[in-house]
Amino acid sequence: MTQRDFPNLTVVMHPLVQHKLTYLRAAETTTDTFRRLVREISQMLAYEVTRDLPMETLNITTPVASFDSPVIAGKKQCIVSILRAGNGMLDGLLELLPSARVGHIGLYRDPATLEPVEYYFKVPEDVAERAVIVVDPMLATGNSAAAAIDRLKECGCTGIKLVCLLAAPEGVSNLLKHHPDVPILTAALDEKLNDHGYIVPGLGDAGDRMFGTR
Ligand code: URA
Repeated sequence: MTQRDFPNLTVVMHPLVQHKLTYLRAAETTTDTFRRLVREISQMLAYEVTRDLPMETLNITTPVASFDSPVIAGKKQCIVSILRAGNGMLDGLLELLPSARVGHIGLYRDPATLEPVEYYFKVPEDVAERAVIVVDPMLATGNSAAAAIDRLKECGCTGIKLVCLLAAPEGVSNLLKHHPDVPILTAALDEKLNDHGYIVPGLGDAGDRMFGTR
């Protein structure tokens, strides 16, 4: 499967993203380097996901002339992290969107069913008035992302986007079926899921590698 099979998917093929992703995948990459790479890639994905932000002009005076100059218009941003691995992506996005609000949704995968179970939900009160960027490094089955987006839509959110580091075709199809209005931005579309629900070739357990828990 390729990006062309999925109208909801954008794969960021920028050489810097792809180079950093290679070292992120490598099993010998240390925890500190892994964290740094996640932050750097997330920053570049933030650049891409904000590419279509609406603009307006602001009249300013330069030292030379008065000038109608472009600034970002429209809704303010809220970044929603799917715990726990989504937190590793927050700093990178916040570097480019420093005044964004942040929400957290705690979901774990039931190891038997691979279905998401919610244990935490905290988003800004005005989340429905904000453009929402959901971050989850690994779009595997897509069940957690779909459940998180369900909850955000229950809160009145529209204009939701999903940013991940790696996506499996199964996860992208799941999102396309349940949330076709939600664009997905990723650094790579991998081959498949294995029997344990891991992305292949993937990078292993993103949370464990980020936080050094295994
Ligand atoms: N979550 C991970 O951390 N890695 C995968 O490969 C799939 C889900």
